[in-house]
Amino acid sequence: MKTIKDVDINGKRVFFRVDFNVPLDENRQVSDDSRLTAVLPTLAYALEQKAMVILSSHLGRPEGKVVPEMSLAPVAVHLGRLMNTDVKMAPDCIGPAVKSLVAGMKPGDLLLLENLRFHPQEQNKDDAFAAALAELGDVYINDAFAVSHRPDASVVAITRHVPVCAAGFLLAKEIEYFDKAMSHPKRPLAAVVGGAKVSGKLGALENMLAHVDKLLIGGAMANTFLKSRGVSVGKSKIEEDLIPVAETVMKKAREKGIEFLLPVDVVVADRPAPDAEPKIVSIGEIPADKMALDIGPETSKLYRKALGDAATIIWNGPLGVFEIDAFSRGTLEMAKCLADSGALTIVGGGDTDAAIHKAGIADKISYISTGGGAFMELLEGKTLPGVAALEKAESRR
Ligand code: 3PG
Repeated sequence: MKTIKDVDINGKRVFFRVDFNVPLDENRQVSDDSRLTAVLPTLAYALEQKAMVILSSHLGRPEGKVVPEMSLAPVAVHLGRLMNTDVKMAPDCIGPAVKSLVAGMKPGDLLLLENLRFHPQEQNKDDAFAAALAELGDVYINDAFAVSHRPDASVVAITRHVPVCAAGFLLAKEIEYFDKAMSHPKRPLAAVVGGAKVSGKLGALENMLAHVDKLLIGGAMANTFLKSRGVSVGKSKIEEDLIPVAETVMKKAREKGIEFLLPVDVVVADRPAPDAEPKIVSIGEIPADKMALDIGPETSKLYRKALGDAATIIWNGPLGVFEIDAFSRGTLEMAKCLADSGALTIVGGGDTDAAIHKAGIADKISYISTGGGAFMELLEGKTLPGVAALEKAESRR
């Protein structure tokens, strides 16, 4: 994929699609700026090249209407602080006022456009809207990995209107690490998959069966697998209708010689609440009135052993209700296990990212993806529309 380094941006108006969809706290301050810091290398390079930097993003899901609480204004302030420079905030993302702001830009200036999703055309993939955005730049750079699974106007259609298109360093790095892990991995390749539902991970599980050597399951989704093996899981959440699917996944794993691991013990309680009383029980001893809310210590040991010889580990989804201390041990233990592993470790998904930070080992992970849905779609083996659009734009020239 062509990157920003392969195109001439010197003194040019560069239109960036970034993903500044970040959480804001009750005072409307950015509470997690990892998606901002992730694009700083690209922005620093653009400034070095004396480009005029026009940034576009969505924030939240305003559904095509102006929702003042979803303005990107606080993000402009935060980014300005991070970059130690002034980031001007535009009143909109298209229109005469924006055009005149862009016309007044000098090399090295930064302008953040207002939330793209205040216009319904963004998510309606509207070509005229894309053309209006495209008018603002001489070069288009997609550095928004986390939204590249959406076929939105600023992600796909715009590439048909700007003469020069390329990826930013973040998008390129995300794809490179993912490829290293899934397409050309050092083996053994292990995947740790957790989270609430098998249904949400089914595509990923099926795709992974074609790549991995080991598959370790945790989180509430493990209950459906356990149930399909005839284990009584008490009042744990399961997806009854997916029991046959779980059986098929395990059968395929067996046929392919994949080491497929399920919990051997769990932490149970009567409800997922901070004041609930946790108890460790073996699989097969889950009381009828209790639910499994974390993997147990024996499972952590088993999983650590299984990952002992892994050269590459991909992790998506917490292994328990890690937001509640009593049920967080299994997830935090897995984070430490990855940190100690010496393997190439790739982690993706909002909850998993939060767990890694809670465990305090983020700096020991090879790569933490900025994507939630986008990372998931890569795990499912899909091509991201944003990436496909860049490749297509390249082949047209
Ligand atoms: C994300 O946070 O996953 C991206 O910004 C995409 O947001 P969306 O799910 O609202 O399209």
